[in-house]
Amino acid sequence: MRIGILTGGGDCPGLNAVIRAVVRRSVRDYNHEVLGFLEGWKGPIEGKTMPLTVEGTADLIQQGGTILKTSRTNPFKKEGGPGRVMESMKSNKLDALIAVGGEDTCGVAHKLNKEFGLNVVCVPKTIDNDLSATDFTFGFDTAVSIVSECIDRLHTTAESHNRVLVCEVMGRHAGWIAAYGGIAGGAHYILVPEIAIDLQQVVDSLKRGHAAGRNYSIVVVAEGAKFLDEEVLKSQALDAFGHVQLGGIGERLAKLLEKETGFETRAVVLGHIQRGGSPTAFDRVLSTRFGVAAADLVHEGKFGRMVALSGGKIVDVPIEAGVGQLKTLDPDFYKLAGVFFD
Ligand code: F6P
Repeated sequence: MRIGILTGGGDCPGLNAVIRAVVRRSVRDYNHEVLGFLEGWKGPIEGKTMPLTVEGTADLIQQGGTILKTSRTNPFKKEGGPGRVMESMKSNKLDALIAVGGEDTCGVAHKLNKEFGLNVVCVPKTIDNDLSATDFTFGFDTAVSIVSECIDRLHTTAESHNRVLVCEVMGRHAGWIAAYGGIAGGAHYILVPEIAIDLQQVVDSLKRGHAAGRNYSIVVVAEGAKFLDEEVLKSQALDAFGHVQLGGIGERLAKLLEKETGFETRAVVLGHIQRGGSPTAFDRVLSTRFGVAAADLVHEGKFGRMVALSGGKIVDVPIEAGVGQLKTLDPDFYKLAGVFFD
């Protein structure tokens, strides 16, 4: 068999570990060949490829980013895009494709499978952890570790200055990073996209904490958190999947908190630091398990499937089970965080 592989959407730690695992399993154990498409769906559309070998991918497990590069290209937004993807599969003599991505990349894979008969298997990736049908996506654990380490550092500077520090983290529609990172970092308040911000509640909580003797506070806010129905946009422009660029909620919240509490307040935006660098051991192992499982599915001819983690085991589910509906933050998990708010 000849198998194509691409990585699409925002990069995340663990992508290279998936590539390494797919190549090793497919080439060494099944005698297949693997061809990399560059820059997500742009690769098959523009014919950008790169041969992948066991030797060339051997030392990738600890490397962040993706050697295949990535983009947010949507073939369904390009004139003749889906046809060009199918054409590229044919001209490169490929029998199947492995698409490693989040809701957008896997959503495209699902449509190409259903409407054009593309033999595709998906691997769920996103630091946001918002794909359904899998307990975790890889990249999330690394992002949470980075956030918790950064919050540790914010504690000492906030405490030294008697300040409130607002830490804005990623999470467009889901507050998983904010909740996990905030709990791990001992944040005093956590705000997520799923629950509209009640400013008064945050102000009262911080005041109670300071009145009880704490001279500083850490507030973690997900970039997608809103005051009632308002979204804080950095730019009005939409990407190929219709997403606006978020950002700015941390700065805005910091100003309001300073005004309402009287406590000196600063904001810090962790941004793409959360997506950079080496994957954690957990993400390296999860990516490896996903990559091997995806290669196995392709070998068995089980297409239209997504590998997933369920109760500690690797399973496979229809792609639409992963991308049909976003997995937003579990309200019970948020209640756990609330135990530590004043
Ligand atoms: O990949 C998901 C994500 O990291 C979101 O958390 C964030 O909103 C977005 O990507 C940022 O995208 P970009 O890298 O295009 O700025």
